[in-house]
Amino acid sequence: MGSPRSGPWYTKPFCRKDDTVDSAILDKALKYVRGQWPKAKPSFGLICGSGWSDVVAAFRVKEFIAYDQIPGLGTPGVAGHAGRLVWAVNKGHDTFIFQGRRHWYEGEGWTPVAIPVYLMKHMGVTTVVVTNAAGGIRKDLKPGDLMLIEDHINFIGNNPLVGRHNPVWGPRFPDQSCVYDAKLRLAAEKAAKKAHVNLKHGVYLAATGPVYETPAEIRAYRILGADAVGMSTVPESLLAHAAGLRVMGLSCITNFASGITKEPLTHDEVTSATRAAMPKMKTLLSELWKELSHE
Ligand code: HPA
Repeated sequence: MGSPRSGPWYTKPFCRKDDTVDSAILDKALKYVRGQWPKAKPSFGLICGSGWSDVVAAFRVKEFIAYDQIPGLGTPGVAGHAGRLVWAVNKGHDTFIFQGRRHWYEGEGWTPVAIPVYLMKHMGVTTVVVTNAAGGIRKDLKPGDLMLIEDHINFIGNNPLVGRHNPVWGPRFPDQSCVYDAKLRLAAEKAAKKAHVNLKHGVYLAATGPVYETPAEIRAYRILGADAVGMSTVPESLLAHAAGLRVMGLSCITNFASGITKEPLTHDEVTSATRAAMPKMKTLLSELWKELSHE
């Protein structure tokens, strides 16, 4: 077997075989999870970004499956990403919690990134909350703040929908005029008030990673309209929205973006900031699930 980085197609940067989502692997992943949990009927989904995995404590866990058991999903290669699919419940809502995510920058193509969304779609999830750790670009976004994503900018330079059209992801040219559901944003506001969390709002920009940005890039992103920057969330959110799921996005601001302070950026800073913010992340999600159960 050739490595994913060998083969004649590798010389064509935008036509690499592993750029696109492999439908056969998606189906294998679905078959596996259905086989393990034939009774699971989740209505909600939660994708945990860097440092978010411990929010599972806000739920009652029923069962879990390690990612490496699910065909095509593999193990996240990043600290702060647990790598488990948890079947949990809160306020009577069965929820699939993806403790850890796969990223485009891990170099394994779009299939591992798309699998959680595909599983949720086919298992019956209608509402998904996608979370991340992000650098604050706007001056008032400080480490420890939680930010509700209002819109995004895809600066990854690629997109999981590139490739042969698969109708599960909606039409060939999916609308993106409101990726982050307005009613869900309202529910998040109400939940934040009840949880006494000062929830900020903003536009999230996804860069390719895995490098952090240069100060010049951050100045450019600010001019483009970005309030926070990270390396994820946009692919899953655009897929989920295209597939007809309602999407909410939440960022934990873990650092000032590059160049705002003189400090170099490290992943340790990111994980320790999410650890410090964990109590409010958990109360916000608890209140949010309560709020969603009134719908
Ligand atoms: N840049 C990109 N990704 C990030 C950052 C950042 O500053 N902080 C957490 N994830």
